[in-house]
Amino acid sequence: MADKPVLWITRRLSDATLARAQNDYECIINHEDGEHTADDIIAMSAKVDAILPCHSEVFRDRTVDELDPRVKIIANHSVGTDHCDIPALNERGITVTNTPDVLSDATAEIAFLLMLGAARRAVEGDRMVRDGKWDFWSPAFMVGKQVSGSRLGIIGMGRVGQAMARNARGFGMEVHYYNRSQLSADKEQGAIYHETVESLLQVSDFLSLHCPATPETTGLMNQTRFALMPDGAVLVNTARGALVDENALIEALKSGKLSAAGLDCFVTEPGGNPALSAHDNVFMLPHIGSATVTTRDAMGFRALDNLDAFFNGATPKDKL
Ligand code: DGY
Repeated sequence: MADKPVLWITRRLSDATLARAQNDYECIINHEDGEHTADDIIAMSAKVDAILPCHSEVFRDRTVDELDPRVKIIANHSVGTDHCDIPALNERGITVTNTPDVLSDATAEIAFLLMLGAARRAVEGDRMVRDGKWDFWSPAFMVGKQVSGSRLGIIGMGRVGQAMARNARGFGMEVHYYNRSQLSADKEQGAIYHETVESLLQVSDFLSLHCPATPETTGLMNQTRFALMPDGAVLVNTARGALVDENALIEALKSGKLSAAGLDCFVTEPGGNPALSAHDNVFMLPHIGSATVTTRDAMGFRALDNLDAFFNGATPKDKL
C-alpha cells in the first residue's frame, strides 16, 4: 500500500475529526492549539503534502510565495476564505477548498442570539443581576426593542443568510435582503429583494451581515450607510469584522442612530475592540458562530471529504 499522505492539522479539531484523519493520513496535529506565524507555516510546509487549517492561519503574500512545493492542497476548516489568497495559491498549483453548508444553521443561531440579546439588553441585564445590583423594577425599566414583527435586512442571502431568514420568519419578522442576484421564489420564501444595499438599509430595523469579506465588501458598513438606517436600528455581524468600519459603528451607537449591536466578529481577532466594549448596548461573542459539537464534526468531516477526493484523484466537492 502506498504511504499515507502527510497532513498538517493546524488547530485542535473535534475528536471525531482527529480520529478519522489519523485513520487515513499521517497526521501532524497541533495539540497545543496555539496560533502560527508565517514562518511556522512556511517551515512546516516542507514536511507535509496537505494542510487542514482554520481561518486563523493566513495564506497570503510571503507565505504563499515561500510555501514548499510539496504542499498540494489546503483544505480549510471554514466557509470563509478571506485568510487565503486563492488566485495566488492556485497559480502555485495548490488546490484550495472550504466547508460550506454545514455551519449555516449554527451561525444563523448565533446571529439570532446576538440580535435578541442586543435588542433586549442582555449585557446590561445579566451584569445587573450577576453583580447583585438589581434593586429596582418599574414598567419603565430596561425597555428594549421588539424583534418580533420588525423588519430584518439581510446582506448576503447565501446559505447562512437563508437560515437567518428562516429563523426570522419564526418570529414574524418581515425579511428584506440584498444579494448580488435575486433568489428564486422557493429560496426567497417571501423575502423582499432590494437591488442596492442603500435601498435595503432604509427598511432595516435590524440588519444582519452574511456576505464574505472581499476587497469590495471591506468597510461596507460605514458612516454614510449607517446614516441611511432607521433611527434606533440594530446591527448584527456574524460574518467578518472587516465588513464594518468600527469607528463609524461606535459613532452610530453614540448618536443613537443604532440602539444596539450584536457582534461575533471584529477587525482584530482574537481580542476585539476595547472601544466597543465600553458600550453596554453591544452584545459581543468571541467568533463562535460555528462552535457546536455537531457543526465542528461536520466541518471536520467536510474538510476530510475534500482531502479524500483530492488524494483519490477526483475534484473535491468544495474546490474554490
Ligand atoms: C468560518 O467558517 O468562516 C467561520 O468564521 C469559522 O472559521
